[in-house]
Amino acid sequence: MPGYDVTKIDLVVDKSPERVAHGRALVINLCKLCHMNAETMALTGQQMLDMPPEFGTAYSKNITNSKEHGIAKWTDGEIVWLLRTGIHPHTGKYIPPWMPKFVHMSDYDLHSIVAFLRSDDQLVAPSDRVNTEGDPSFFAKALVVAVFKPFDYPKQPIPHPF
Ligand code: HEC
Repeated sequence: MPGYDVTKIDLVVDKSPERVAHGRALVINLCKLCHMNAETMALTGQQMLDMPPEFGTAYSKNITNSKEHGIAKWTDGEIVWLLRTGIHPHTGKYIPPWMPKFVHMSDYDLHSIVAFLRSDDQLVAPSDRVNTEGDPSFFAKALVVAVFKPFDYPKQPIPHPF
């Protein structure tokens, strides 16, 4: 997968109970389908079974608060950067198209998602589960190089339509 520059985003999101509750509702709607694992009943990742076979195999990741195997060591800014641009904040690699990017979501919603991921909710309780590495096909890699590109990090705040 192609590599890109990473910009460090200095950001600490509001983690008030209201924001965590709002983030929980969004995560259940937007992330659970792919990241929820039926054995752990937490967001520890699973195989993407409805991938078209010509793309090879893919697994979603453990996004619980595990320091070793989840995203507990990521900063708030790193999570926001990944969800906006699709570029992995540590490797600079473009995250394949089967992980969605949240380009137009308001800052309020996106920051609430991060607040929830940091919470002590059961869905993100630290889990050491490690998923198999996916094996994207040549076709999938070619598409990523030729067609799918990362998104620019927004230059302005994205307001919420309250
Ligand atoms: C359509 C399925 C799908 C949905 C929906 C989805 N993800 Fe993912 N996500 C993936 C896959 C697959 C990967 C692994 C990509 C790869 O191979 O590197 C991933 C990777 C990630 C990573 C990178 C973790 C790491 O250690 O590299 C984070 C963080 C993440 N997702 C957060 C989220 C959040 C937060 C949401 C909801 C707002 C979400 N994802 C929704 C499929 C999904």
